[in-house]
Amino acid sequence: MKKTGTNIDAKSAAPRKAFIKTYGCQMNVYDSERIENMLSKEGYEITASPEEADLTVLNTCHIREKAAEKVYSELGRLRIIQAKQGETGQAMKIAVAGCVAQAEGEEMLRRASNVDVVVGPQAYQDLPELLKQDRKNAVRQDFAADDKFEALKKASQRNAPVQPAAFLTIQEGCDKFCTFCVVPYTRGAEYSRPVADLLDEAQNLVARGAKDITLLGQNVNAYHGATDAGGTETLSGLLHQLAEIGGIERLRYTTSHPKDMDEQLIAAHRDIPQVMPYLHLPVQSGSDRVLKAMNRRHGRSLYFDIVAKLRDARPDLALSSDIIVGFPGETDADFQDTLDLVETVEYAQCYSFKYSPRAGTPGAEREDQVPEEVKSERLAVLQHILNAQQLAFNQSKVGTTQPVLFERLGKKPGQFIGRTPYMQAVHIDVPYLSDPSAVIGRILDCHIQHAGPNSLKGALLQKDLPDVA
Ligand code: 5AD
Ligand code: SF4
Repeated sequence: MKKTGTNIDAKSAAPRKAFIKTYGCQMNVYDSERIENMLSKEGYEITASPEEADLTVLNTCHIREKAAEKVYSELGRLRIIQAKQGETGQAMKIAVAGCVAQAEGEEMLRRASNVDVVVGPQAYQDLPELLKQDRKNAVRQDFAADDKFEALKKASQRNAPVQPAAFLTIQEGCDKFCTFCVVPYTRGAEYSRPVADLLDEAQNLVARGAKDITLLGQNVNAYHGATDAGGTETLSGLLHQLAEIGGIERLRYTTSHPKDMDEQLIAAHRDIPQVMPYLHLPVQSGSDRVLKAMNRRHGRSLYFDIVAKLRDARPDLALSSDIIVGFPGETDADFQDTLDLVETVEYAQCYSFKYSPRAGTPGAEREDQVPEEVKSERLAVLQHILNAQQLAFNQSKVGTTQPVLFERLGKKPGQFIGRTPYMQAVHIDVPYLSDPSAVIGRILDCHIQHAGPNSLKGALLQKDLPDVA
């Protein structure tokens, strides 16, 4: 049957194909799904191979070092594909989206002649229109987040199944201006989506098979979305409302700022059964002096207080963090404070980074940059402790039974991968199973038999064993 409304290429009579490559954080994953939905509506089929694509979208991330250079290298590789395509008369367009697009803007058109569109993270709803523009007009870096979500609302409401663990962006941007971070410049000011839109989108996700929803925002716990009654709702209030929607079995949110961790939100970890006992609460440093220089607006004692309150509300809470070593001016004593904080908190999981200057941020201007070797040494010491903590946390679950939401097939035949409430990956083997849907998308009790640094191995309890086909 002929589909209506598809964008059929007149010459080949085949639908156009789009390849989307996503870099960076979960919010970019969420954005790429919206871009995919939007392009599908325009008649594009999504392909996994740039070689057969008529359009490649690079949804870029600016957080890591040399982010822009990596995008330019990727554009160089795409140029080779474009040249090959040229031999058969095919001509792929390239759109660069996301935070590198926001930061580079027109410079990107100047430096990479094969780029057709440059579109920032708050403007990608305009991508279809920009693709039709002249190249010189095809740069958009607006920060109108409300326009974006309004335009994308329709693109979100679809019928296609989603992963059992889905993302929902509730807030974007950041007003905190930590002195190492580019996010306030690339994602713009804080913006919270209205409650009604989020409840609609969550309901839609549940109808399409989502059981675990992670609420996303660069500053997710600063959420203050408009209600229909003309007021605003906080994150804890939103969690309560979402928990009322039948079908959401697990709720998570990321990334939180310690300063916005209010009493009600802490209480939500005790009062809402769907709120999972896992929280990513970046501390960045354990030294008050460095935290001040980072403009973090909290000291170590506030962080300890919050952790104590959270553990009081939810004693089994697994904590995760981000830590930077070698921020300008960081001394050995400051670094010791970080190690001390890590030893005290005991993380289940933690990302750690060497500070790297980002042009345009205050940290990059400082003259007391820490030498690279010192940063590397400190990172190695820190990671040794963090790895041991992560392994110890995983090992603490051996011999217990955990409810695991199975998300996907593993690499080996008969292997399935899911997650515990604490975000640990669990592998099980059910080799005799012919119908994966007996496991995928379900929360099943698993006996945990073995723990490695990055995952657990378990077995389904007898009562949950699917029928042998
Ligand atoms: N250098 C090192 N790490 C950084 N991060 C953000 N900016 C920088 C930087 N300039 C880290 C922070 C943040 C995480 C997403 O990336 O720890 O929480
Ligand atoms: Fe960056 Fe700080 Fe905002 Fe987090 S709170 S996005 S680290 S500026």
